[in-house]
Amino acid sequence: MPASPVSSTIAGTDAEQFLRLYHGETGRPGLTERLERLRLGGRDNLDLSTAELTFGARVAWRNSIRCVGRLPWAGLRVRDLRHVIHADEVFGHLVRHLHASFAGGRIQPTISVFGPGVRIHNDQLLRYAGYRQPGGGVVGDPQNVALTQHLRQLGWEGGAGTPFDLLPLAIEARGRIHLFSLPTEAAPEIQITHPNCESIGKLGLRWPALPVVSNMTLGVGGQHFVCAPFSGWYMQTEIASRNLADADRYDVLPAVAQALGLDMGRRRSLWLDRALLELNVAVLHSFDMAGVRIIDHHAATRQFQHFETCEAAAGRTVYGHWSWLIPPPSPASTPIWSRQYDNTEVSPNFLLQRPAWETSVLTTSGCPFNDR
Ligand code: ARG
Repeated sequence: MPASPVSSTIAGTDAEQFLRLYHGETGRPGLTERLERLRLGGRDNLDLSTAELTFGARVAWRNSIRCVGRLPWAGLRVRDLRHVIHADEVFGHLVRHLHASFAGGRIQPTISVFGPGVRIHNDQLLRYAGYRQPGGGVVGDPQNVALTQHLRQLGWEGGAGTPFDLLPLAIEARGRIHLFSLPTEAAPEIQITHPNCESIGKLGLRWPALPVVSNMTLGVGGQHFVCAPFSGWYMQTEIASRNLADADRYDVLPAVAQALGLDMGRRRSLWLDRALLELNVAVLHSFDMAGVRIIDHHAATRQFQHFETCEAAAGRTVYGHWSWLIPPPSPASTPIWSRQYDNTEVSPNFLLQRPAWETSVLTTSGCPFNDR
C-alpha cells in the first residue's frame, strides 16, 4: 500500500478526519451517527457511500499539488464502479469512460473508481508503444519501452511498428492479467498541423486527445483505490514542450526547426526555442481545428490564480509544487512565477504507484496470464 499523505489539521484517524471534512464542507447532517457507525464497523472500515466517495475524489483533485488545472475540481464526474471486479467489465467501463470524458471534444473531467483486486498496468489508457531497436534507438515513445516490453511478455504481438502505435491495456483482476485493445473510436487522436507552416503538418505528428492517468491510487479517508483512472483536458505544453519535444521522448525539435527553415548551425540562433514555440502554436491550432478542448498556459495559470482566490474565500490553504505549476515555456510571463507554495500533500489525494512490472508477483515467471 502506498503511504498516505500527511493529514490535515483535523484530529482523529484518516477516516474520522475525512468524515468531519465531508460533513463540514457539504453541510450534511448526521456526522455523529456516521462516526458512530464507523466505530461499530471498526475504525478503518470506512465503507464510503457514493456521495462520500464522490466528494473524496473531488477533494483529492483539489489537493493535487502538481496540478495547475484544479479550478473545476467540484465538477469532477465520479463513476462509482467499486462493484466492478471482472476484467471484461472493467474494460467495458473504461471504453465508456473514454467516450463520456471525451464527450465529442468538450471533455468532461471524469474518474472511474473500480473494485478491489483490479489494477491497470498501463500508466495512461492512451499510450504509444516504444520499440527498442537493435542499434539502441527507439521507434515510438521512449518513455514506454518498459511498458511495451511488459505487454510483449504478457503476449501482445506488437503493433504495426509506427512511432504512434497505441498500446493495448493490461488489466489485472482477481489475480489474472488480461490484454484488451481499445477500439479506434474510443481512442481519439489529434493530427498535428501548423496554421501557416505546412511542412510541420507533414511530419506526421499526432497525440491522444486527452490524458487518462491510470497509475495513481486514490486515497480517501485511509481507503486506497488502486484502480481509479481519471481524465481531463490537456494543456498544450504537456504535449508540445515535453512529450514531443524532450530529447528523451519524441525529440522532434530538430525536425520542426528544419520544417521552419531555421538556422540550426548554432544554438545561439535560438532555433530550439523557436521550434518549441511553433510546436506549441501547432498543438493549440490542431486541437482547435479538431474541436477538442485544450487549455494554453496563460489561461491555465490565470485560472489557477482564480482557484487560489476561491480557496482563500473558503478559508482553505492552497498547497502547490511550484516547479510543476509553472509551465515549461515562458514561465516568467505567468502569474505563478513570482509566487511561493507549501508543497505538503494533504488527504484525500492521489498517490503515485510503482509500475506493475516492478512490483507485481503475477508478472514474474509462471504468471497466470489469460490472453484474449
Ligand atoms: N503530462 C501528462 C501527459 O502529457 C498528463 C498528465 C495529466 N494532464 C492533464 N492535463 N490532466 O500525458
